[in-house]
Parts: sequence; structure tokens; C-alpha cells
Amino acid sequence: MVKANRRDFLYLSAAGFGAVGAGAGLLTFIKSMNPAKDVLALSSVEVNIKALKPGQQKIVTWRGKPVFIKRRTPEVVKTVEAIPLKNLKDPQTDKERFSKNQEYLVVVGVCTHLGCIPNQREALGAQSGPQANESGGWLCACHGSVYDASGRILHGPAPKNLEVPPYEILKGNSTIKIG
Ligand code: FES
Repeated sequence: MVKANRRDFLYLSAAGFGAVGAGAGLLTFIKSMNPAKDVLALSSVEVNIKALKPGQQKIVTWRGKPVFIKRRTPEVVKTVEAIPLKNLKDPQTDKERFSKNQEYLVVVGVCTHLGCIPNQREALGAQSGPQANESGGWLCACHGSVYDASGRILHGPAPKNLEVPPYEILKGNSTIKIG
């Protein structure tokens, strides 16, 4: 009887240690699946926009992609709001895209066709001519997709508007946190 009790005790102890060991192993395994600190740091980026003047654009990198931050004038915002949604391939109002503050545009600068980086149309001298009412925006030179000053696709093969990443405007409009 005494022998049996001792044997039971040994079995139970071994089972207990086994369970604790398995639990610790599982925890280590789960922890190893969490992103490393440096990866987490890259998942969001804070951008100082204090010096950004109306009409200026800043390009930053977020998760390996360019992000355009543009401070728009009230005239530009009015112009994009005047474009009828029925003229758009991927209808979205400017307010839906930039509800936090329409003065600041924040878009991923990757063409939704095949991934080239569009250029500002002002820089290409495309501000005048038949598309002047589109008030700037971007041109993807790869296959000719034209985006308006809200980053919405107007012409060309791109199927979607430029993506608006998750972002917040902080510290009295002096910082934009992307991601
Ligand atoms: S990649 Fe931009 S138009 Fe094709």
C-alpha cells in the first residue's frame, strides 16, 4: 500500500512537471509569434508638419511605402468637393477620405494600377489646360493614371483611389501619426 502511494505520488509529480513544462513552452512559442520591438516601431511613424506651408507636400516612408502628406489650400479642397461623384471610378467624397481635417491630405503614394509612384501634376506643369479644374493631383507616368487633389482616380487604368492609411493628427495640427 505504501509502495503504491509512493508510485502514485511519483506519477502525479511527473505529470505536474510535464504540464508546467508544456505551459512554459507554449508561452515561449506564443511570445515568439509577437512582432519584435523594432518591427512594432516601424508600424507607425510620427511626422512633424509644423513647417508645412499651404500647397506643400512632404513624402515620408511608412512600412516601406511612400506616403504623401499635403497641406491643401481651402480653394483646392473646394475644387475637389465640386467634382461630381458620378464622374469618379471609385466614388468617395473628400470629406469621407479626410474627415479628421480636410486641410491635410494623407495618402499612400503607390499607384493602384501596378504600383508605380505618381508625381505631383503641378511639378509636371499640368496645372493648366483642359484638366485645370482638377487642381493639381498626381500623374502616374507608367501608364497615365491621373489622380485628383484628393488622390481619387480620374483617368487611366488604375482601378482605385490612392489609399488613405490609418492616421491621426496630434498636438494641435503639428504632428501626423501614421499607422
Ligand atoms: S502603375 Fe500607375 S498607371 Fe500603371
